[in-house]
Amino acid sequence: MYDVYKIRRDFPILSLTINGKPNVFLDSAASAQKPSKVIETMHHLYMNEYANVHRGSYYLSEQITSAYEEARSRIHQFLNTKSDKEIVFVRNATEGINLVAATWGKKFLKAGDEVLISEAEHHANLVPWQMLRDELGITLKIFKISDEGEYLEEEYLKLLSEKTKLVAVTGMSNVLGTVFPIKKMAEQAHQNGALFLVDACQYAVHQKVDVQDLDCDFLVFSGHKLYGPSGIGVLYGKYNVLDSMPPYQFGGDMVDTVTYEKATFNEPPFRFEAGTPAIMQAIGLGEAIKYISSLSMENIFKHEQELTTYTTNALSEIKGLKIIGQAKDKGGVFSFNVEGMHPQDLAFILDKEGVSVRTGHHCAQPIVNRMGYESLARASLGLYSTKEDIDALVAAIRKAQKFF
Ligand code: ALA
Repeated sequence: MYDVYKIRRDFPILSLTINGKPNVFLDSAASAQKPSKVIETMHHLYMNEYANVHRGSYYLSEQITSAYEEARSRIHQFLNTKSDKEIVFVRNATEGINLVAATWGKKFLKAGDEVLISEAEHHANLVPWQMLRDELGITLKIFKISDEGEYLEEEYLKLLSEKTKLVAVTGMSNVLGTVFPIKKMAEQAHQNGALFLVDACQYAVHQKVDVQDLDCDFLVFSGHKLYGPSGIGVLYGKYNVLDSMPPYQFGGDMVDTVTYEKATFNEPPFRFEAGTPAIMQAIGLGEAIKYISSLSMENIFKHEQELTTYTTNALSEIKGLKIIGQAKDKGGVFSFNVEGMHPQDLAFILDKEGVSVRTGHHCAQPIVNRMGYESLARASLGLYSTKEDIDALVAAIRKAQKFF
C-alpha cells in the first residue's frame, strides 16, 4: 500500500508554505527534495564520524570508509551491476558522460567513427560529443523523433551502422517525458558492434534499472534527482570496459605507485576517483537509495504512472494549453505552452500561488527549438506528488489566464 500522504511527511520541506500558500513542488526533474533520513544521516556523520576515506588506519577514518564503500554497494545492488567495482562516483551525470568522452572516447574513437544520439538529449549528452567531433574528426549522428515526441525505431535504425562506435541516449527525456526502449536499442547497437550509454538521470528516478538486463555498457545518473544530495552522481561501466579506459584526472587515490619519474594507476573504480571524493554526498545518496528501495521502485512507478495519466487529463482540459511531448510511453514530465503567455510570466504567477515549475529550455535547447519553442514551462512529478498538487497547478494556470 503506497500512502503518499504518509510518505510526504518524510520530506520536511513539503510542509512549508511558499508565498503563504502550501508548497506545491513540481520541479523534481530539476532536483528532487530530500527525505529526513538523508539529511539526518549526513548531519549525524558530520557531527560524529567525519574523516577522510581510504587514507587513515584510525577509528574515524575506518568508520567513514566503510560507510562510503557501503554506499557504493547499495548502488551496485540498486542497479544490479555484477560488482561494486563497476560503480564510479562522479559529481553528477554530466561529469559521468564527460568522463566517458574524455577517456574511452579519446582512446577508442578516430576520424570517421560515428557516435549516435537522439534529438531529445540534454546538453550533457550532446555537447561532449560535439567537442569530441571537433577534436577527433568523428561524426555525430542524431536520429529524429516524431513531432509528438515519440521514439521512431526506423529513424534510429536508419543511422545505426557498423560505423557507429557508441550510441548514447537518454532513458527518459527531461523535456518530453518520452521513455526510450533502451533494452532493445542496446541490443541493436551491439549487433552493429557499438557500445551503448544510457543517460538515466530521469529514467532511474521513475523506474527500476537492471543494467545486466538492459545490457548497457555505461549508465549515468545524478544523486540530487534521486532524492539524494547534490554534488554526487554515478557512472556505471561494465568492468572490462572501465578497465580498458585511461584515468580521467590525476592525483591522490587514483594511483598505484608514484615516483618522481612516473606513476602507475589504480584499478577501477578508484582509477577514476582522483582526490578526496564527495564523501558525505555519496553516503547521503546511499541513504536515499535505501529509502526509495524501502518504498520499492515498482510502487513508485505505479503511483507516478497513475498521476501521469491524471495530469495529462487535467492539463488537456485547459483551453489554450498545449502539452509538448505526447509519447505513449511517457514519465511524469509535462512541458507545456499556454497561448498568449510567456512561460516566465506564467511561472511568476504560479509561484505566487505556491506552485514551483521550471521554465526555459531545460538544458536541452535543441529539442525545445525543434518542437517550435524558445522556452517552455515544465511541471514534473516526484514520488511524493499528489493529485492535489496537480489540482493546485491547474487552478493556478486558470488564475494566470485571467490576467492575460
Ligand atoms: N537537467 C535538469 C532539468 O531537466 C536540471 O531541469
